[in-house]
Amino acid sequence: MKRRLFIAGNWKLNKTAAETTETVADLKAKLADFNGSLDVALFPPFLSIAAGQAAAAGSPIGIGAQNVHFAESGAYTGELSAAMLKEAGIELVIIGHSERRQYFGETNETVNLRTKAALAAGIKPFVCIGETLEEREGGNMESVLKAQIVEGFADITAEQMTNLVVAYEPVWAIGTGVTASPEQAQDTHAYIRSEFAALYGQEVADKVIIQYGGSVKPANVAELMSCEDIDGALVGGASLKADDFSALILNAAALS
Ligand code: 13P
Repeated sequence: MKRRLFIAGNWKLNKTAAETTETVADLKAKLADFNGSLDVALFPPFLSIAAGQAAAAGSPIGIGAQNVHFAESGAYTGELSAAMLKEAGIELVIIGHSERRQYFGETNETVNLRTKAALAAGIKPFVCIGETLEEREGGNMESVLKAQIVEGFADITAEQMTNLVVAYEPVWAIGTGVTASPEQAQDTHAYIRSEFAALYGQEVADKVIIQYGGSVKPANVAELMSCEDIDGALVGGASLKADDFSALILNAAALS
């Protein structure tokens, strides 16, 4: 039995509040006939979240944040705490996206701290892992992913593992138009699940939602989502237009 799919859109640094209102309203209308067979969320920039929440009210679209700090308070200029997110009605958060690892010094250790802070506040983390092209071609893909898993999920309980989402995003497939082939993605997802099985046992590993991310489009989503160990998608570019994202969601929903 496959796990329930979770399709989410990471808007990165795109869309003002006004643009968010417009796109979410459009998406809501285009999902009027959606059969509800999978979970849907969007992650706008912080300042557009309130607009997204208002526009998504009464729809199946969840609205989350793209980052959270691990401290409760203190001298961390520019950051927001999990309690602040929770108070703003935010129940989903992306953690450790490769762009944050690449440009903002995020490490497996800070990913772990942020994940624990989110879980403690009752916010569902979408924890991103993935290898670079250099790491894959150098034969280091599995060791990089293993370290991201062992260090990034340290101290996370089995129960918490069923309350979060793992997003596997090969860095070489992000925003490049190059998607991992369904076979490549499935093989890597199976490997990731085997690492969770080693840490938590097969029964828990079988419940973990593992999304794929990297150039997912309406045209390739069905093929990817049909793979045994792929449980959803974290979508960048194709989530920015309601036309594309609704088509992508409906194509995935048609599978179940
Ligand atoms: P693209 O879908 O634009 O490749 O981005 C993927 C991504 O980084 C989602 O978090």
